[in-house]
Amino acid sequence: MHLTALLPVLALAITTLSAPLETRHEGPEEYYSLGCPTNTTKPYASQYEQTEVLNTFANEVFVQQQVALGYDTYAAVDFINHAPEVSANGIAIVIPFQTAELKGGSVDLQRVFVGTNLTGTSFGTIHFRGNSVAEGEGDIAGIWRMIGTCLVEYWDVAAGVEASENPIAYF
Ligand SMILES: *[C@@H]1O[C@H](CO)[C@@H](O)[C@H](O)[C@H]1NC(C)=O
Ligand SMILES: *[C@@H]1O[C@H](CO)[C@@H](O)[C@H](O)[C@H]1NC(C)=O
Repeated sequence: MHLTALLPVLALAITTLSAPLETRHEGPEEYYSLGCPTNTTKPYASQYEQTEVLNTFANEVFVQQQVALGYDTYAAVDFINHAPEVSANGIAIVIPFQTAELKGGSVDLQRVFVGTNLTGTSFGTIHFRGNSVAEGEGDIAGIWRMIGTCLVEYWDVAAGVEASENPIAYF
């Protein structure tokens, strides 16, 4: 290839390299604006990788009660939190709250899976049976929106386990 043919390519490379840092980010802006940990998550991932991460997160946080480790590794610092029992967004609030909530209890994971909606947004579900000191036995489903392998938005639904005519009630 002649040098003249290479010139436009070089010019493009120089323009790209001299662009401000934030415009060189790879991936959706929200991955950065919400503070996804860039050393332990990535903005693009396969469905299998996302499921592995959600499964690891669920085990670390709920089963092993290594709550800070799970959130620090996989959740955006300012993740959007719709859980009614937690007062605001972000890992700084949820970590101490959930650490206290889980202490002395136990969790039995039921199912963990990740998929996308019709326009390609990824969502993962953690369904578990929880035994807590304060609340007794509960049937809980948490839903996470994910960008790549980062957890960015959360909703949950919880019900207390009560006597039922159904022999396979809840689980
Ligand atoms: C990832 O980076 C953050 C912030 O720079 C740091 O606090 C954290 O320890 C790092 N985590 C790992 C697993 O390297
Ligand atoms: C998929 O989820 C995103 C994020 O919640 C939402 O904006 C979009 O409307 C959803 N698409 C469909 C088809 O529901």
